Amino acid sequence: MNVLTRFIEAMPKAELHLHIEGTLEPEMMIALAERNGIQLPYADVEAVRRAFAFGSLQDFLDVYYAGMSVLVTSRDFFDLAFAYLTRMHAQNVQHVEIFFDPQGHTARGVSFDTVLSGLVDALERGKRDYGMTSKLIMCILRHLPEEDAFATLKAACRCRDHIFAIGLDSSEMGHPPSKFSRVYREAREQGFVAVAHAGEEGPPSYVCEALDDLQVKRIDHGNRAFEDADLVQRMVRDQVPMTICPLSNKRLQVCPDLTHHPLKRMLRAGLLVTVNSDDPSYFGGYITDNFLEIAGALELDRNDIIQLGRNAFVSSFLNDQEKQTSLDAFDQFVERFSWK
Ligand code: HPA
Ligand code: ZN
Repeated sequence: MNVLTRFIEAMPKAELHLHIEGTLEPEMMIALAERNGIQLPYADVEAVRRAFAFGSLQDFLDVYYAGMSVLVTSRDFFDLAFAYLTRMHAQNVQHVEIFFDPQGHTARGVSFDTVLSGLVDALERGKRDYGMTSKLIMCILRHLPEEDAFATLKAACRCRDHIFAIGLDSSEMGHPPSKFSRVYREAREQGFVAVAHAGEEGPPSYVCEALDDLQVKRIDHGNRAFEDADLVQRMVRDQVPMTICPLSNKRLQVCPDLTHHPLKRMLRAGLLVTVNSDDPSYFGGYITDNFLEIAGALELDRNDIIQLGRNAFVSSFLNDQEKQTSLDAFDQFVERFSWK
């Protein structure tokens, strides 16, 4: 095995852009459909896999929302999340910050508490069994009205202890961050940290809106920010973390050919970029696969990988002391790694 591959596999990692519903593997989708008596538009695992050919973000979202219809009970959410944590433990992931989409469930009659209790139980078990730390980020579906977002925020306020941050996902074009300025203001006042997907398909101005109107602490994706030199300069100056998802970018045609992916240029420009999986079941790989593919496509060297690995802990919402402990452990790992 190539030494850089060995390093990437063994490196302590943090994942900051991961939709838990996007970890639903076809096998689990079919099994849960059976367990819950849900009719899927796919007859078997192969049919599910055939549906995973996406021309755009919207193509993916249509399949993603259909897939999540099999998640009904707290046990389903527990099983989904714990399967992800188990995989991440095997990939030396130490810390995860996980998105969930309550509106994708409440709209089908599955309660907010059902979703949250299953996820929280899984995260607690992950901490107990694997020593893995975690945060939950509740996403607002941006294609739905502001009113629905406010109702979802109200539910989150009742579960303040379990939800760290608020995020924004789903169909980006035509749904700019500013649509949710008032929701985010309320969320920040309630003590939630703010993040948002921006600049995945949407223009650089959407990234500016996320920063200015929503006052986010991190940009999810943000690829298109790289088109605007002033914005890049600002994000470098302020060291705004960006959660880049290479295999997602490839599969959603944001950047179909990873040899042209901007990650390396972003890194060289001084942007605080990280590598993540987004919806690993749908996009063909978990965090290690994302590192391996982008490292190969862009011929990243060991210093690039070390920088990307460190950036994830720096960009996380761990507190200062936890961050320092994680970074010390990371640096010690690098120092002791045998490059021969
Ligand atoms: N973008 C927008 N919405 C999403 C994504 C994404 O990458 N994944 C799940 N919902
Ligand atoms: Zn995402």
